[in-house]
Amino acid sequence: METINFGIIGCGAVSEKHGQATRQVEGVRLVAAADVVEERARAFAAKYCEGPPRIYTDYRRMLEDPDVDAVIIATPSGLHARMGLDALDAGKHVLIEKPLALTSEDAGRLIEKATHVKKCLGTVHPNRYYPTSQMIYRAIREGRLGKLSHGVATVRWSRPQSYYEEAPWRKTKEMDGGVLFNQAWHALDMLFWYIGSPAVEVQGMTARRLHDVETEDVAFLTVRFQNGALGLLEATTNVYPRNLEHTISVFAETGTIVQGGTRPDTLKVWRVRDEAEQVVIAEWGETRSIQHPDAWAHGKVLMDFQQQIETTNVACEIVNDARNLIAVVEKVTGIQPGSPM
Ligand SMILES: NC(=O)c1ccc[n+]([C@@H]2O[C@H](COP(=O)([O-])OP(=O)(O)OC[C@H]3O[C@@H](n4cnc5c(N)ncnc54)[C@H](O)[C@@H]3O)[C@@H](O)[C@H]2O)c1
Repeated sequence: METINFGIIGCGAVSEKHGQATRQVEGVRLVAAADVVEERARAFAAKYCEGPPRIYTDYRRMLEDPDVDAVIIATPSGLHARMGLDALDAGKHVLIEKPLALTSEDAGRLIEKATHVKKCLGTVHPNRYYPTSQMIYRAIREGRLGKLSHGVATVRWSRPQSYYEEAPWRKTKEMDGGVLFNQAWHALDMLFWYIGSPAVEVQGMTARRLHDVETEDVAFLTVRFQNGALGLLEATTNVYPRNLEHTISVFAETGTIVQGGTRPDTLKVWRVRDEAEQVVIAEWGETRSIQHPDAWAHGKVLMDFQQQIETTNVACEIVNDARNLIAVVEKVTGIQPGSPM
């Protein structure tokens, strides 16, 4: 197994998790960093890159570097598609932060390009790797919950206006996409992943209520899945004065599971026929749960991407799921682009 040399594009908030993640995974290392703000690339490289510093303010120069095998894209969401296509064209494997792209057309282009150039395309969905997420997924797939009724995802978060001002791309439709693409992305993905069936009907409503931004800050979405189950999402950044919950609930014939609350990787309810709820909650409840370090799940994402490269799996399941999810969000944001303040 040869060591995979990574470069990173975008050295802002989430790049820290990727820096820490590479330290957790054997056989990968960071060798280059790009950011339009040179100081950020320099500081990131000093902390996380191995070998002589390779620092770029133009990511395209980094893509010309033959020692870089793969890139992580951690820039504002509206840049993901363009940068991903450029990186694939340059013969690099590409791991893109969420969301994969802001239009399903762009997501499709990325998948086509990866297939064409035979380089691997991945995207970062860390919540799928939480042990509790794996437990829920397995319980559903093994039929322990019986027939599914419905799932509900709730993202009740607080983001002051200063959050949007700190990184002004977050205020824009073109670069951020709104609460569904940004804050609700993981909850939406988990809801769809758990139910495990394509959407056949999607409806929704969005509004911009409490922030000076171009996009919605509250969204409702309902979905009918092909297997007959229903799904519901409520997502907002309008909760006063702090985060309330990030919760996914699944209701089925012989099981009720509630994941999350103040910590999305925990379990609140595990009522599954013939299974001992107290035992599960004692281990995974909000108070007793083992705390994973912040970047632990990003490490799992990276490990999976490493395996994807080793097996030349150009477009993994998550990438295809992400494209379908973008199409779902498009349906909702297309219906109602947000009301005036
Ligand atoms: N998977 C997760 O859990 C998770 C968590 C947070 C953020 N994200 C995603 O990561 C991405 C970045 O978010 P963030 O919070 O780190 O943002 P940020 O604003 O803190 O960082 C973005 C960085 O990209 C740089 N940049 C902008 N344009 C560039 C260009 N043309 N070339 C090179 N660098 C450029 C900026 O200078 C900045 O340093 C977003 O898409 C966001 O949705 C994912």
